[in-house]
Amino acid sequence: MAKISVFGIGYVGVVSAACLAQDGHRVVAVDVVADRVAMINAGQSPIVENGLGALIAAAVESGTLSATLDAQAAVHATEASYVCVGTPSNRDGSVGLGYISDVCGIIGRALATKSTFHSVIIRSTIVPGTMEDVCIPLLEAASGKKAGVDFGVGYYPEFLRESTAIADYYDPGLIVFGALDQPTFDLLILMTLDLPCVAHQVDLRTAEMVKYTSNAWRAVKVTFANEIGNIAKACGLDGQLVMRLLCGDKKVNLSAHFMRPGFAFGGSCLPKDVRALRQLAQAKDVAAPLMGAVLQANEDQIERAAKMVTDTGTTSVGLVGISFKAGTDDLRESPLAELAARLIAQGLDVQVYDPNVSIAHALDADAAGRGNDVVPDLRARMVPTIQALIDTSALLLVGNTYADATGPLSRAMQDQPMVDLTRLQAGIVSNGTYQGICW
Ligand SMILES: NC(=O)c1ccc[n+]([C@@H]2O[C@H](COP(=O)([O-])OP(=O)(O)OC[C@H]3O[C@@H](n4cnc5c(N)ncnc54)[C@H](O)[C@@H]3O)[C@@H](O)[C@H]2O)c1
Repeated sequence: MAKISVFGIGYVGVVSAACLAQDGHRVVAVDVVADRVAMINAGQSPIVENGLGALIAAAVESGTLSATLDAQAAVHATEASYVCVGTPSNRDGSVGLGYISDVCGIIGRALATKSTFHSVIIRSTIVPGTMEDVCIPLLEAASGKKAGVDFGVGYYPEFLRESTAIADYYDPGLIVFGALDQPTFDLLILMTLDLPCVAHQVDLRTAEMVKYTSNAWRAVKVTFANEIGNIAKACGLDGQLVMRLLCGDKKVNLSAHFMRPGFAFGGSCLPKDVRALRQLAQAKDVAAPLMGAVLQANEDQIERAAKMVTDTGTTSVGLVGISFKAGTDDLRESPLAELAARLIAQGLDVQVYDPNVSIAHALDADAAGRGNDVVPDLRARMVPTIQALIDTSALLLVGNTYADATGPLSRAMQDQPMVDLTRLQAGIVSNGTYQGICW
């Protein structure tokens, strides 16, 4: 069993402290507010949270949980510290790091006089880069020691929800953490071993980003459901029933489908239907700002790709794929066709490889309704093979992936500039003349 000091006796800290203690770890909770420390030591919960009072009372009674104002003593008496202090918004909306900075200084000074290894594990919500740019430098400056060598550092975001905090602690849905050093990784693996989720080990920045992504996604879900509910009500419908039915589809609607960063959505349905829903809301005098933002963000993603191409200064582009997704010849509202049109309008020479659209052309099956209406002279721009595209283009712009194209494109990217909207190879990241749109 581990000895853990928990900094911050707020919602996250007190739940963590009580649950760690219940699991048999020896926990010292630390706060700057004397009342909170006193309440813990009296076996009482300083917050209202289902089941927490009983947990704290039992842990204090059994001697596994205590609280103190003495941060230095707490660090010296434990092998790791969980930092759970608040990170409230600054005036401009940026993350407030005042409490985190204070605690890093306090723990760092305690580490200066501690001879045994100690891990500092931040659990507060902090934007990517905070560990490396703020926490670690402060800990090193205050301790005079090297992070990852003389003391351990980890970032382990908390996902609990108030009101179900204890249940969430034991089944968080997602466990992700990063650490600078193996002892801290080992400790976090040990601390999460009995929880019913995979423990994802990542770098510090990724762990920081996942926490914000999780909360932003939760917020978007609430807002989406509310917007649908408002429109449904205006149509005389039960929005909760509509959302319940939608959520019954675990194949596409509530799944990882469409949750992979990359290029814009398009095709014959999504753009027109979002537009129609927005117009319906307007006609019913219901605000639907999310629908408007979705269309604007999609438009911005096309512009982002266009800028990535024009920023290279190239005048010759080989576009891989022009239908709205691989596996179809459908060009209706294809964001790739829109992207090609913008590049052509800016004077770039754009050639296209798309095996499905080529088949449609060969069959003369690209008539109105399914065809291209934005790219001038599309037929003349089509090349028959991926190799022909590679050989005649200065920059390759990968919009769709095709089985016969992946190998030649992977070889070509070694010495040919590429803008990739699909992620041609798993894990590849922007580097030199290879640029991925979201990686
Ligand atoms: N509340 C939630 O549901 C929740 C869930 C997941 C993550 N988080 C994140 O966890 C962090 C903590 O949130 P919270 O709601 O528990 O905050 P909180 O405001 O309830 O508690 C923070 C505690 O830290 C104490 N503190 C401040 N400076 C201190 C210091 N130098 N030493 C020791 N204690 C100090 C405060 O006195 C307070 O008791 C935030 O970053 C938050 O975004 C919160």
